[in-house]
Amino acid sequence: MKKILFCFGTRPEAIKMAPLIEEGLNRGHDVKVCITGQHRDMIIPFLEFFQIKVDYSLDIMRENQTLSSLTSNLLSKIEIVLKDFQPELVFVQGDTTSTFTCALAAFYQKIDVVHIEAGLRTGDIYSPFPEEGNRRLVTPIAKYLFAPTEESRANLLEEGVTENVVVTGNTSIDTLRKTITKIRSGQLNDSLRERYKDINFKKKIVLVTVHRRENHGQPLIQICNAIKELASSREDIEFVIPVHLNPNVKECIHASLEQFDNVHLYKPLEYIDFSWLMYMSYLIMTDSGGVQEEGPYFEKPILVMRENTERPEGVSEGVSKLIGSDSKLIINEVNKLFDSCEYYSSFSKNKNPYGDGFASEKVFDYLG
Ligand code: UD1
Ligand code: UDP
Repeated sequence: MKKILFCFGTRPEAIKMAPLIEEGLNRGHDVKVCITGQHRDMIIPFLEFFQIKVDYSLDIMRENQTLSSLTSNLLSKIEIVLKDFQPELVFVQGDTTSTFTCALAAFYQKIDVVHIEAGLRTGDIYSPFPEEGNRRLVTPIAKYLFAPTEESRANLLEEGVTENVVVTGNTSIDTLRKTITKIRSGQLNDSLRERYKDINFKKKIVLVTVHRRENHGQPLIQICNAIKELASSREDIEFVIPVHLNPNVKECIHASLEQFDNVHLYKPLEYIDFSWLMYMSYLIMTDSGGVQEEGPYFEKPILVMRENTERPEGVSEGVSKLIGSDSKLIINEVNKLFDSCEYYSSFSKNKNPYGDGFASEKVFDYLG
């Protein structure tokens, strides 16, 4: 039995840590969970949905906080948790500021760091920002590096990191595997259709998420302009947009898109609702990391509104396409996907490069 502390603070981390926490508990480890508080509203429903019991909760979220204040507040608070529980292993996931800061705090206490979703790289330290920096900084201080794909493992090997590097698949697929049956069986259809009765499901659904810092400002304005143009020119589209709570995103999207009947703006959605909407959609447009992994599971074409991606597997498998944020390019791509069946079906189906849904088991098999 090992003493394990799971540290995380944002929505995607909760979704991807949930199956690991369950697996750790099932195997009889002494598991405790620390929520950094980087996200507040956007994490609480997920903790409830996945029944994650929280042992330590650090209240660090401030409206529109800077990266420096987030990092310094968290670094001093997490030290108290580490000294209290004295874990043998600290699990961190991905590339957020919570991920990096908790790994650094554990390193300062000479506690072994387990990095889940290690080895993702774009090669550009400023894109995504600060995530590419965060994940690169975790690599040398992590003892165990669980890479989701062979490509991410190869990135680590190229950097000279060879010990305790294991390919597992992404735990996001574990989480989907555990919830997909409910969605595919149709048992939720009636209640969800009722909840989203303002959406005209006779039309084709385009599900959109956008939040990356490098898309704030002009790129986001361009993305909104493209959606505006498509919403007014196409009768056959219903845009569904759960809006991220970051004020830089929320204000811009509401100001430009609120007036369209066929653009449905929502607060961040619960996991099961969002997964169902992925399942119901014709097309997904996103700059999210997690959604790039989940979309292929639902066999939906994904337009990635970024200049580069640390998830190139989807692009090489032909399930996703990098299109950036230029309005004209976005409009052209969407029109093509709606008007050409041939183009739509050129996006591959049945290809999910991100794992078989048993990553958490592989992690604990390795750790023993
Ligand atoms: C963070 C991560 C990003 C991840 C994303 C997932 C960093 C630097 N960024 O970005 O890697 O992809 O989460 O969604 O780690 N806010 C709320 N309520 C919430 C959450 C956020 O109001 O529950 C608002 C606050 O004003 C907050 C702001 O959003 O200051 C930004 O939050 P922050 O965690 O710094 O960045 P994200 O853009 O959410
Ligand atoms: N997601 C959700 N509700 C939403 C939007 C996204 O549950 O309204 C889930 C989505 O299924 C994925 C994760 O949130 O698992 C992605 O989070 P986000 O895009 O915020 O972060 P990223 O993955 O880009 O770090």
